[in-house]
Amino acid sequence: MRTEQNITGIHAVITGASGGIGKEFARQLASCGYNLMLIAHQQEGLNELSEEIERQYAVRAATLVADFTKPADVIEVVVYLKNAERVDMLVNCAGYSEHTPFYEQDEASLLNMLNVQVMATVRLVHAALSKMIAQRSGNIITVSSLAAFTPAPGASMYSSSKAFLNTFMETLHMEVHNYGIKVQSLCPGPTHTGFHQGQDVEESMAGIDFWMEPQDVVAASLHALEKGEVVCVPGVMNKVIKNVAPMLPRRPYYHLAEKLAKKYRNEEDSDTMPGSD
Ligand SMILES: NC(=O)c1ccc[n+]([C@@H]2O[C@H](COP(=O)([O-])OP(=O)(O)OC[C@H]3O[C@@H](n4cnc5c(N)ncnc54)[C@H](OP(=O)(O)O)[C@@H]3O)[C@@H](O)[C@H]2O)c1
Repeated sequence: MRTEQNITGIHAVITGASGGIGKEFARQLASCGYNLMLIAHQQEGLNELSEEIERQYAVRAATLVADFTKPADVIEVVVYLKNAERVDMLVNCAGYSEHTPFYEQDEASLLNMLNVQVMATVRLVHAALSKMIAQRSGNIITVSSLAAFTPAPGASMYSSSKAFLNTFMETLHMEVHNYGIKVQSLCPGPTHTGFHQGQDVEESMAGIDFWMEPQDVVAASLHALEKGEVVCVPGVMNKVIKNVAPMLPRRPYYHLAEKLAKKYRNEEDSDTMPGSD
């Protein structure tokens, strides 16, 4: 892990800051006057973003490289948060996609995803709260996914870790709102970012294109945070899916999810048996 500088004053810490959604959080929070600590897995992209932000807004934007598959790197971010003068916003955005059945993955790749999306988030939230509780103020946004409501084949660790994040954020909200701390689980649907890089994905389902731009996802999140919405699902189609999917009887749901997962990945459909209860 490499730290370049420390940040003082009104302060947001953003993980996954080099990617589409995290980068957009950085830009929109900088435009609101936040000084930033931008964190990502690789330095690539971070310096450029920090220079762009410092040129455009009257804020500081420092960078820090940490690989969240490595517990030692996560601990260094924990130490950074604990030593910070104050922490006004934590955005947990680091994450990546998964398209391989559980049994075809080795144990290390399964655990890597849990380390990045679950363990790192738990540790950083715990560290940030030690500041926010004392400050009696703060905001925590954790980027979950529509996939939390729509489990699908090939995404066992992804969907279940995002479902964990939703429950975690809702529980946290109930525990900390009396301290003036706002908590949100942001559940985007398909969004144009590097997340889908190298995949030949189908952008429309049943003739409806419900993909979003990161600018709109982040604007919806910050607006919802202002209103105190704890689970934010940006986009009308995504809201419909979030509400309908859990209500579908499970057997037809499994069949549909299997078909859609194949269509999404542009794979040929075969006559597979729907999952059983
Ligand atoms: N795009 C979508 O359709 C979509 C939909 C629902 C939810 N999401 C969620 O949105 C969040 C942001 O993704 P994105 O769409 O902006 O994708 P992205 O452009 O691929 O950005 C992902 C970010 O996560 C960081 N990251 C990946 N592996 C990491 C690791 N081992 N340690 C630390 N950081 C790591 C990446 O850093 P490097 O670039 O340095 O590797 C990058 O900054 C993710 O949590 C994702 O699950 C995305």
